[in-house]
Amino acid sequence: MSRNAANAHTHPVPQFRQARPEDGAAMWALVKEMGGLELNSAYFYVLFCTDFSDSCVVAEVDGRLAGFVVGHRPPKRPDAIFVWQVGVAPWMRRQGLAGRLLEALLDQQNPPARWLEATVTPDNQPSRSLFRALARNRQTGCEERAFLGADLFPVSHEAEDLFRIGPLTSNSSPEVDPS
Ligand SMILES: CC(C)(COP(=O)(O)OP(=O)(O)OC[C@H]1O[C@@H](n2cnc3c(N)ncnc32)[C@H](O)[C@@H]1OP(=O)(O)O)[C@@H](O)C(=O)NCCC(=O)NCCS
Repeated sequence: MSRNAANAHTHPVPQFRQARPEDGAAMWALVKEMGGLELNSAYFYVLFCTDFSDSCVVAEVDGRLAGFVVGHRPPKRPDAIFVWQVGVAPWMRRQGLAGRLLEALLDQQNPPARWLEATVTPDNQPSRSLFRALARNRQTGCEERAFLGADLFPVSHEAEDLFRIGPLTSNSSPEVDPS
């Protein structure tokens, strides 16, 4: 049994790295299985892991996808990183993984991002706590404001509030393997 496998029974040790095209299918499957996130097409995840891999991070435990973040650098706000989705498998929740994924995402940005942005629905308390915790840990601001109204969506969809965290300064994390 590998050391990681042994650890998995006691204290799982996630490995963080930049996403690769091969990760798209597992992201899609995880979102489909866990619910709570809007399921995009499999094509979306594969394409994001290909063309926007600089702003996508996966966390694995013994080669199994434990969590991921997909984002992009908004062309009109090049100093920001926008988090499209962050998801953690139910078996790895409440262990700080999402916070570490966001830190890994920030650490991977070149040039560094001065702002981290995300939209969150009003009733998603775990997600709201996650972004507030990031701001608190980084000792920086967390602006929260109404952003995308429910009326913008062609199907039933909650409003999305914008969370804007920053300004951010570099805070290097040794965990990301950019290979
Ligand atoms: C939101 C989500 C990513 C959090 O993942 P996680 O790894 O459990 O989060 P962490 O352990 O890093 O916790 C980060 C912060 O959020 C808080 N938090 C996490 N889950 C929470 C919950 N269910 N209720 C309240 N707070 C919660 C933690 O306490 C922590 O804040 P703290 O430092 O002030 O204590 C996870 O619950 C998830 O995948 N949910 C479904 C998908 C989703 O809603 N994604 C976000 C929208 S894109």
